[in-house]
Amino acid sequence: MKLFLDTGNIKDIETYCAIGIIDGVTTNPSLMAKEPGDPRAITKRICQIVQGPVSAEVIATDVDGMIREGKDLATIDPHVVIKVPFGKAGVQACKALRAEGIRVNVTLVFSPTQALLAAKVGATYVSPFVGRLDDIATDGMELIRQIVDVYENYDFETEVLVASVRSPMHVAIAGQMGADICTCPPAVIEAMFKHPLTDSGIERFLKDWDDAKGAKA
Ligand code: G3P
Repeated sequence: MKLFLDTGNIKDIETYCAIGIIDGVTTNPSLMAKEPGDPRAITKRICQIVQGPVSAEVIATDVDGMIREGKDLATIDPHVVIKVPFGKAGVQACKALRAEGIRVNVTLVFSPTQALLAAKVGATYVSPFVGRLDDIATDGMELIRQIVDVYENYDFETEVLVASVRSPMHVAIAGQMGADICTCPPAVIEAMFKHPLTDSGIERFLKDWDDAKGAKA
């Protein structure tokens, strides 16, 4: 399973890419609004660091505007993937951008039928938001199971990009379900590294080593 980082923060992207575990980055208008500076320059820098797919989202809400903005964002760097919100306009814009060879991530997906429509127009990625479903007492990960099943039945090439990830459990279950990608905020990546038995295990190894060395000295 590929791991993307869900942030526009350069420092976090540098930190986790340096470890070697990050395959791509997703941003959205809310995440980019938090970062000081020119969004185009930030997007370019992210592409240079990650050297993998970087989703940049359009602000336009009409088809022509999405296509225009998408084509413009795609000139920033060859790694840029255009993120369009699901809807009639987003689906139509996705088809037009794909016809130009531009990769598209259809975002804000909350049902298997929405995911099916995105796949039919050749979306490169579909982004179901699991955390926001959990927030309204609906099982977000069940949506992932449904989309993975539908895509497998028809051999769609669209990759399932699990978004709105809130905990390592989302990542673990996504892996069990065969989702292609999880995009995680830095806090979730951080939590994935942690286990108290790893910490206490290292502590014990070091203590045993020191005790033995101390005894010989
Ligand atoms: O990138 C979009 C998505 O991951 C947003 O997550 O936490 O705002 O629901 P969240």
